[in-house]
Amino acid sequence: MGLNLIMMGPPGAGKGTQAGRVARERGLLKISTGDILRQAIKDQTPVGQLALSVMSTGELVDDETMIAIVRERLLQHDLDHQGFLLDGFPRTVPQAQALDRIIEERDNGPLVVIDIRVPFQELVRRLSGRRICSSCGTNADPFGSEARSCGKCGGELAYRADDSRDVVVERLKVYERQTFPLVEYYQGRQTFRVVNGAQAPDQVAFDLDTVLDDAAAVGAEAHRSRSEAGETGAPATTMDGTQGKGA
Ligand code: AP5
Ligand code: MG
Repeated sequence: MGLNLIMMGPPGAGKGTQAGRVARERGLLKISTGDILRQAIKDQTPVGQLALSVMSTGELVDDETMIAIVRERLLQHDLDHQGFLLDGFPRTVPQAQALDRIIEERDNGPLVVIDIRVPFQELVRRLSGRRICSSCGTNADPFGSEARSCGKCGGELAYRADDSRDVVVERLKVYERQTFPLVEYYQGRQTFRVVNGAQAPDQVAFDLDTVLDDAAAVGAEAHRSRSEAGETGAPATTMDGTQGKGA
């Protein structure tokens, strides 16, 4: 049985920082929609051209495009049994509803949702100082302000195009308006957990691992009971056994 994980939280919460480690340690397929779009911009694909104009304003790329991207990756046959980690998806209720349907199709294990919470002022501070590698996209160490090159690949460090103050403020507004409602969408489920992201990265990692182990065990048990009862693919029930709003 696989573990499926959504890493939620506002821009700057630390989703990307934690996602890489968690996916590596737990053998999950990591899908970061922001990274996919930034790569598409670099490659100058049609999706990249669309993403460039939208991301530079802080708005969201349309649901249809984003759902198609994630659906295509999650329904690859050779990945049927592998769990996944989503960083930056879903970001709207229609995206969450589409994901529930994809999870039903895959039917390979429970879904855990972790919401990383950080106060507004700290988000603005983090994003205005963030530098990323212009080659591999990795975040620079947030406490290594004098570093000039990427610790992973040696590439040049640069500010992210959508981290200018005006765009950051817009991204945070868009989060409040379009993504925060997902907390209500998921919080009734047994496998929804909150982590305090306003702590040192190691402490966030520790707390995250603790709640993830707990939620995964609860979710696995519910998934097993549901499979034994022959309820796989049931339209009105979520993978953690609770009633789903969008399924
Ligand atoms: P995306 O790339 O997903 O950006 P985001 O959600 O705005 O989040 P960030 O990547 O800025 O923050 P993060 O939470 O990953 O934090 P990080 O770990 O980097 O999306 C970009 C755009 O793409 C969107 O605006 C939208 O246009 C489009 N898009 C993407 N997905 C979409 C979707 N599904 N639908 C529609 N449009 C979509 O950390 C931030 C900084 O803080 C770093 O410098 C880091 O080193 C530092 N830091 C991390 N943790 C800590 C800590 N504990 N203490 C101190 N510093 C820390
Ligand atoms: Mg990120």
